[in-house]
Amino acid sequence: MNLFLNQKPLNLNPEYPNYMNTSAVKKLIDAARAARQNAQAPYSNFTVGVALTTTDGEIFTGANVESSSYGLTICAERVALVKALSEGRNSFKAIAVVGPYADFCPPCGACRQLLFDYAPEIEIILTDGNLIKLVALKELLPFAFEKNRLKKK
Ligand code: THU
Repeated sequence: MNLFLNQKPLNLNPEYPNYMNTSAVKKLIDAARAARQNAQAPYSNFTVGVALTTTDGEIFTGANVESSSYGLTICAERVALVKALSEGRNSFKAIAVVGPYADFCPPCGACRQLLFDYAPEIEIILTDGNLIKLVALKELLPFAFEKNRLKKK
């Protein structure tokens, strides 16, 4: 597996707050792959696994959970984030996302928003099984709606 950096290699600079070395990135991808096995996707058959790491290096995994009432489906990213938040963790470094095909699986718009609300600085790790792409959430969700905008002046 090759590292493909589509941006300046912030994550590989030890001075960057979200620093992760290559083996930590690969470990997170492996955890996402394992989590994908638990996906409940009988309607789409599109199974997704994620692994979310806190700034302390603790890993929370998630997989998508679909409903017979399709709109109730919960994406893997939100499963992992809600697991971690509800266990009292609130500082996150990166999330690896793995889909069922040899293709990248970037988070949907709803997940981008929820991640932005709780982890605006998070890095997204994507892989097509060969290349690894590191992308900042802020790049995926520019000019985001954010909690500060709720404050009345
Ligand atoms: N899905 C995720 O879990 N994460 C993504 O990043 C993309 C989509 C799920 C939702 C649904 O269960 C299935 O994939 C097809 O959209």
